[in-house]
Amino acid sequence: MSYPYQIKSLEEYKKAYQQSIEDPEKFWGDIASNFTWRRRWDKVLNWDFKEPKIEWFAGGKLNITENCLDRHLPSLAEKPAIIWEPNNPEERTRVVTYERLHKRVCQFAQVLKNNGVKKGDRVCIYMGMVPELAYAVLACARIGAIHSVIFGGFSAQSIADRLEDAKAEFIVTCDGAYRGGKDIPLKSVIDDALIGNKTVKRVIVYTRTRTPVSMIKGRDVWWEDEMRAVTESGEQAEGYGQIEVMDAEDPLFILYTSGSTGKPKGVVHTSGGYMVWTNYTFVNAFQYQPGQVHFCTADIGWITGHSYIIYGPLTAGATSIMFEGVPTWPDAGRFWDIIDKYKVDILYTAPTAIRSLMGFGLDPLKGKSLASLKVLGTVGEPINEEAWHWYDEHIGKKKCPVVDTWWQTETGGLMITNLAGVTPAVPSWATLPMPGVQALLVDEKGQEITEKDADGYYKGNLCIKAPWPGILRTTYGDHERFKTNYFSTYENMYFTGDGALRDDQGFFRITGRVDDVLNVSGHRIGTAEVENAINMHASVVESAVVGYPHDIKGQGIYAYVTVTGFRGDEQSTRQDIIQTVSRIIGPIAKPDKIQFVSGLPKTRSGKIMRRVLRKIAEGETSNLGDTSTLLDPSVVEEIKNGKL
Ligand code: PRX
Repeated sequence: MSYPYQIKSLEEYKKAYQQSIEDPEKFWGDIASNFTWRRRWDKVLNWDFKEPKIEWFAGGKLNITENCLDRHLPSLAEKPAIIWEPNNPEERTRVVTYERLHKRVCQFAQVLKNNGVKKGDRVCIYMGMVPELAYAVLACARIGAIHSVIFGGFSAQSIADRLEDAKAEFIVTCDGAYRGGKDIPLKSVIDDALIGNKTVKRVIVYTRTRTPVSMIKGRDVWWEDEMRAVTESGEQAEGYGQIEVMDAEDPLFILYTSGSTGKPKGVVHTSGGYMVWTNYTFVNAFQYQPGQVHFCTADIGWITGHSYIIYGPLTAGATSIMFEGVPTWPDAGRFWDIIDKYKVDILYTAPTAIRSLMGFGLDPLKGKSLASLKVLGTVGEPINEEAWHWYDEHIGKKKCPVVDTWWQTETGGLMITNLAGVTPAVPSWATLPMPGVQALLVDEKGQEITEKDADGYYKGNLCIKAPWPGILRTTYGDHERFKTNYFSTYENMYFTGDGALRDDQGFFRITGRVDDVLNVSGHRIGTAEVENAINMHASVVESAVVGYPHDIKGQGIYAYVTVTGFRGDEQSTRQDIIQTVSRIIGPIAKPDKIQFVSGLPKTRSGKIMRRVLRKIAEGETSNLGDTSTLLDPSVVEEIKNGKL
């Protein structure tokens, strides 16, 4: 495999960037020509941010799995596509070659068909990090079904909401999942999610933990039985694992993510543009070289796993590690063991993991070589300089470029990042936009920021002026929401929801969300969602949730809550509320702090003044700004004095 579009120097980057802006159609058309298409596109790009409507490679026909699998078979059949590291280091590793992956995906594609899955059907995947999860994702893509992977940490209620929104008829799950010292009973969570559900026709269950499960007649089937039936029916059968030829703009997947209001929205990505974008960004940011081993520590339940465990690496013919467990089990040296065991070249992880591992000191690094590492990456949240330097010094031994990659579920792939060893790295700066990304900073009114602040930076809200191939195309079932969320704040621009600084060289530093979205341990959570869950608790009258700086998680969840009274004492009511949030959303959304208050600071029109609550949670109580519009300013004094 060679990557003729891999950028090799700062000069080449500048040239590529320039070309991508001057003639995006030629630029992306040339890159897309390196992939396997069943029919060439008629037009590289159609777009209108007003409608909004975005099409890449319109008229083009392809199947992304042909690009991930079939096209590599002549040269890479025996090469590992996926190396699976189990939760328990004593258990056997699984190495899945390209040939084997192709075979398994074709088989499971046939299983899906046998169970009635057709092109365009939504298949919800709720599994632990086992290779079968990757088979399921790719099998959906192979037959044109739309996969919607749900992270294993979400609750039955969250799954039920997503199933309903996607009108999913099929589920692929596991009996259970191993994560560190815990067994998570996935099938039983699915059973709870399906109470009252009328659309799901079939649940396919893969055996991983042998946890007892209830299999419902006519609805639930075992993965192993279905796969056996397919192999026994004869692998050569006509149509076996046959590819569905997709339109470049046919949906590939839905992935739910939190916004500042309402329930999570289903971000829709399509085949052609997403394929080109994940591959291009993978090959360039990490400077992937054929034969290297890439270890992205994310879960496939998040966009990072979709783009940089599955689609980016596999379209590039890379070897991608899939790790079932957690970084601190059985001990805090687990990542480092995996790196030495498989001679990992590229490590891609989250600042929260780095900070948590830093907390264990250098002991877990004793006896670990880490000599195979060439490139380090971070993603998901701003990285503080201390963590950046620790990563650079103790993991990269100061010889591996660190790429700080800023992007979002909506962007499909990396947007602003340095390119490893090719463009300059600056601690805690994402630095330069990828070719094709026209990033700019605007003020509240949408005017581009042209004046520097007192520190010498341009500072504003981060927007993108034109589409890149990986941009989301809609939010599932609600195009109006897509428009309101991303294209209505500022005219003719995609608004990211992030604030950023830019310096004279055009380098960007992302400072974090400027909307009501939290980023807890790199997981995105809407304050409204957490408030709704808290408000479900019988004793709660109302609540307001804000983020506050947290040493390890980046942001913690701080909830101000008014109650009708305590059941037992304050502490037990607090525990009950936390339990409620865990039930409604999942453990990842549990508040770190709950402060009981007699009222919330509201303006005369009834709006909660979050700015004040945020400041108090951050411990900045001396300068709360103008509170004269509050209905009852004395509430603020009370909250300040009672701060946790
Ligand atoms: O605030 C930004 C932050 O994560 C948000 C996107 O979250 P999500 O859609 O879950 O995707 C995470 C993985 C791509 C962004 O709006 N974020 C992501 N990467 C960075 C970041 N903030 C600062 N620096 C980053 N490198």
